[in-house]
Amino acid sequence: MFKHSFKYYKSKNPPPNFEEVLDFQKPEFELNGIVIYKDLALKSSLCNYGLKNLKDWRVYQIPSKNGFIFIRNPFTHAGQRYWIKKCLKDYSRKPNKLNIDNFNVIPSDKNWWDTAQSDKTLLQSLRWATLGYHHNWDTKIYSEDNRSDFPSDLKDMTEYIARKLGFMDFIAEAAIVNYYQLNSTLSGHTDHSEQNLEAPLFSFSFGQTAVFLLGGKTIDEKPVAMFLRSGDILIMSKQSRLCYHGVPRVIKIDHDIWNDEDEFNSNNYYEANDALWTPFNNYLSHSRINMNVRQVLHTGQLKLCH
Ligand code: OGA
Ligand code: MN
Repeated sequence: MFKHSFKYYKSKNPPPNFEEVLDFQKPEFELNGIVIYKDLALKSSLCNYGLKNLKDWRVYQIPSKNGFIFIRNPFTHAGQRYWIKKCLKDYSRKPNKLNIDNFNVIPSDKNWWDTAQSDKTLLQSLRWATLGYHHNWDTKIYSEDNRSDFPSDLKDMTEYIARKLGFMDFIAEAAIVNYYQLNSTLSGHTDHSEQNLEAPLFSFSFGQTAVFLLGGKTIDEKPVAMFLRSGDILIMSKQSRLCYHGVPRVIKIDHDIWNDEDEFNSNNYYEANDALWTPFNNYLSHSRINMNVRQVLHTGQLKLCH
């Protein structure tokens, strides 16, 4: 049962045993034959959007979870820093909506990130930002009146990945950026507000590691637990698009891979030793960020009709 597993992995006392949590970093996954698209492309393409060469991507499926796709961190280290900075400094600004918009704690000419540098409580109180079609947490209904421009870099990157996986029509129209502290959880739910429920959902993880639970169509099915590490991407398509899922735990890791240097010069991205990177690194040392990107409309549909 979903709730049972959620409670199990959430528990601080006693702490859970993580032995059954799928870890796509472990070499035995390759031996177990779960690897499906080992070499997506023989031809290498340029390093786009902070992503590594396609030939270095590792993409997995779980046989019992149709339509679920896992890409093990395909980002360069500098690429991770680029998206982390975007989530913290840019996606947290207007016209995007934040959970703290009604708290009236940020002066109207200021933004969350800069204001929060001297306010630890404010720094930790950001829980989500919505982009594009804004998710309405109460009604769960998207509307044309509650829509702003979707960031073009996130759109381009997500659609690029979608095309590589064969989702030729996918259009990024809405996103939720979730900001987790080490004690945050996201309880079991399905994402069904989009008019188009056939389009895949793309989920990007950065920072501290999550235990992610992927269940079935009903809450009664026992979920599969897996680690989501910084840079990992998961895609819920086909049958798994409407499956229950949640995050019962965020785990502090020892090695902050987003601070590693790349083997090559990553030019216009931040270097890890850059003083400007320090505040982002400080935030990430106790946080996880998840970008959750969806298509809302049907292919060819121009706008919502209600
Ligand atoms: C969501 C979601 C999962 C995560 O935003 O709907 O399921 O990994 N996020 O944070
Ligand atoms: Mn979800």
